[in-house]
Amino acid sequence: MLNVEEIRKQFKILDRKINGKRLAYLDNASTTQKPHKVIQALTDYYENNNSNIHRGIHTLSEESTTLYESARVTLQKFLNAKLAHEIIFTRNTTEAINLVAYTFGEKNIHEGDEIIVSELEHHANLIPWQELCKRKKATLKVIPIKEDLNLDMEIYEKLLSEKTKLVAVTGMSNVTGTIPNIKKIIELAHKFNSKVLIDGAQLAAHTKIDLQELNCDFFTISGHKMLGPTGSGALYGKEELLNEMPPFLFGGGMVLHVTQQETSYTGLPDKFEAGTPNIAETIAFKSAIEYLEEIGMENIQKHEKELTDYAIELFSKHKEVKIFHPENGGGVVSFTIEGIHPHDIASIFNEYGVAIRSGKHCAHPLIERLKIPSLARMSFYIYNNKEDVEQAEKALKETIKIFK
Ligand SMILES: Cc1ncc(COP(=O)(O)O)c(C=O)c1O
Repeated sequence: MLNVEEIRKQFKILDRKINGKRLAYLDNASTTQKPHKVIQALTDYYENNNSNIHRGIHTLSEESTTLYESARVTLQKFLNAKLAHEIIFTRNTTEAINLVAYTFGEKNIHEGDEIIVSELEHHANLIPWQELCKRKKATLKVIPIKEDLNLDMEIYEKLLSEKTKLVAVTGMSNVTGTIPNIKKIIELAHKFNSKVLIDGAQLAAHTKIDLQELNCDFFTISGHKMLGPTGSGALYGKEELLNEMPPFLFGGGMVLHVTQQETSYTGLPDKFEAGTPNIAETIAFKSAIEYLEEIGMENIQKHEKELTDYAIELFSKHKEVKIFHPENGGGVVSFTIEGIHPHDIASIFNEYGVAIRSGKHCAHPLIERLKIPSLARMSFYIYNNKEDVEQAEKALKETIKIFK
């Protein structure tokens, strides 16, 4: 199990007082805090190695290139991708999904084709496909959720056809914590020769991922949701697909030969990393992954399950509270309190030092489907403890008292 008290020592920000109270940071699905090791990696890089990569033959440039490329290998191993150059560094999941929409999508989606998403999607895994379908006169189909907040797999099977060219679904909902059966989703889609993109922005932070076992075609990651700096993230794509896709952004660092009128491009991964990338952030993301590996993804998952169950136990004692969480969901607990707007809930929680999120969580269609105006959300990570959950329950009691 996790030694949470030891882990907490690595996160100086957790010593902060908010409105005179200890900080209970329960907004991890938005972004996680960064351990000392990651912050130190940023500082070390800028103080000792800072230089542009891939272009120089001087020592600093070579060091920076080595560090940057070693981050690629670390992430490859962490996700068990077959090849390091199947990992393309991006700023985040949003950029990774847009990359696929503008390259794979532009090339392979045609009039009359169909793309399937689910009702659980974050806007990042919805809007790029809406826009692609508009450009290409293709159709966007949606897997609905059932009352238990899981995807309706029977309807999914019916939506699949020879017209399906891409299935793009989340590995874990940032709103309900629902973890769809992505293994089955991928297997079924492949029977129709459809490609599958898994939005791993939430899932990868909490679960051991084995890309070779999963066999998806694309997978996306946001480093900042797994202890890494903002501006770090990645797209995984199968080598043969990435090779066939045209570049996304054009410019320096991704060319073989350029004349006034024509350009030929390099191979993977540089073809998709035009311009100066987020070098320091990517190198520090490597430290975040090493830290997660030291702790162990299985331990992280167990710890979050414990906190999630405890939060549901404490919150469901209050009759005014409605919880939106499926059985076996991930470490996200969304809720409403009868008659109180979620922004008011978040504001009072903040008075008690509890950082939670409120609103539509970049998932407007899902919020509409749940027939509510918005939601309050607690989300957990490795440094959270039972005290955080109890502090949240205390804030909950005060919120109910103030409004009733
Ligand atoms: C499920 C899911 N997908 C995509 C995103 C977008 O991630 P980013 O803002 O890092 O691009 C988020 C962010 O909250 C998310 O939770």
